[in-house]
Amino acid sequence: MLKIAVLGCGRIGRMHAENIYAHPRAELAGVFDVVDAAAQDVAEKLGVPKFESAQAVFDSAQVDAALVATSTPTHADFIEAAVAAGKPCLCEKPIDLSIARVKNCAAKIAGTDVPIMLGFVRRFDKGHAGVWHAIDRGEIGDVHQVTITSRDPDIAPDAYIEVSGGIFRDMTIHDFDMARFIMGEEFEKVSAIGSRLISPNLMTHCNDYDTVMVTMTTRSGKQCVISNSRRAVYGYDQRVEAFGTKGMAISENHAENNTRTYSETFTDKKAPLLNFFIERYAQAFASEIDAFVDAVETSTPPPVGFDDGHKALLLAEAAIMSITHGRPINLSEVE
Ligand SMILES: NC(=O)c1ccc[n+]([C@@H]2O[C@H](COP(=O)([O-])OP(=O)(O)OC[C@H]3O[C@@H](n4cnc5c(N)ncnc54)[C@H](O)[C@@H]3O)[C@@H](O)[C@H]2O)c1
Repeated sequence: MLKIAVLGCGRIGRMHAENIYAHPRAELAGVFDVVDAAAQDVAEKLGVPKFESAQAVFDSAQVDAALVATSTPTHADFIEAAVAAGKPCLCEKPIDLSIARVKNCAAKIAGTDVPIMLGFVRRFDKGHAGVWHAIDRGEIGDVHQVTITSRDPDIAPDAYIEVSGGIFRDMTIHDFDMARFIMGEEFEKVSAIGSRLISPNLMTHCNDYDTVMVTMTTRSGKQCVISNSRRAVYGYDQRVEAFGTKGMAISENHAENNTRTYSETFTDKKAPLLNFFIERYAQAFASEIDAFVDAVETSTPPPVGFDDGHKALLLAEAAIMSITHGRPINLSEVE
């Protein structure tokens, strides 16, 4: 049993704690949160210890590994602490909002053999991974275009948007990673457009955008389009398509059920889409824990690591720079 402690008992930390608790080859070693009541609640519910500090987690002989689900500005510090303690770490995305901090963290942990896995959960979704498997089996041929649609059901609260680091670092970061995962070739050029159509005042105040499109090309000319909106009234819209010389693979949306109803006035009426990430990616979050446990148990590198977090953030920086300068950005300009 791999004894995993969870740091951060907020929205996503609670879910990770429950997934570890339910995992057949893992044990929830305990939890910690700076908000004591949050940790207390999870500790009581699952009957596990509550740690007194983050350092106590890393110092404990009862902890084999850590899952970091705290607020973003703490991630790089906790990755460094995990490496210093020799404890494998599964850290939520993003590593940090600042490329400088990510580079500094990379330098500090360079050469470590302590496994660090990044929480790009969508790679573990059976549908999205199915697109990758179809490509891997050669069914799609040479991939020419990847199209990713990712729209939240509704805009997050103002307080969240204000500290999110902006749509590209907070939301599109998942799609940048998915684009790299599916394309299997690094992107060289990034072009982005952004609009303030849903919450213009808040977006102007935060110098952010609620509606964006990104196009990216690889050195060989392969193309990717990402479409993001902070509000889709029909639910959490998550689709991935790969188009190639031999065919196409599509990962579709998930609805509450697959029933389709027909009447005099409509056809193909279906249940709304699952509403947000905890429901839509429930299977992927559970599989992510499984992949982490597998990697640690078999001493193999985690399937998605620190470098993937770094590269996704570089693509986010390039997208921001593209809007600022009104032109495509070569990745070499942000590296
Ligand atoms: N993979 C995904 O799809 C996904 C989805 C949502 C959030 N996230 C990421 O997960 C992280 C947490 O997001 P959330 O929505 O759960 O936020 P949240 O605010 O609900 O929870 C964060 C928790 O961390 C605690 N915390 C803050 N600093 C701490 C510290 N130094 N030590 C211990 N605890 C500390 C807070 O008290 C809070 O309880 C963010 O980095 C976010 O980007 C990832």
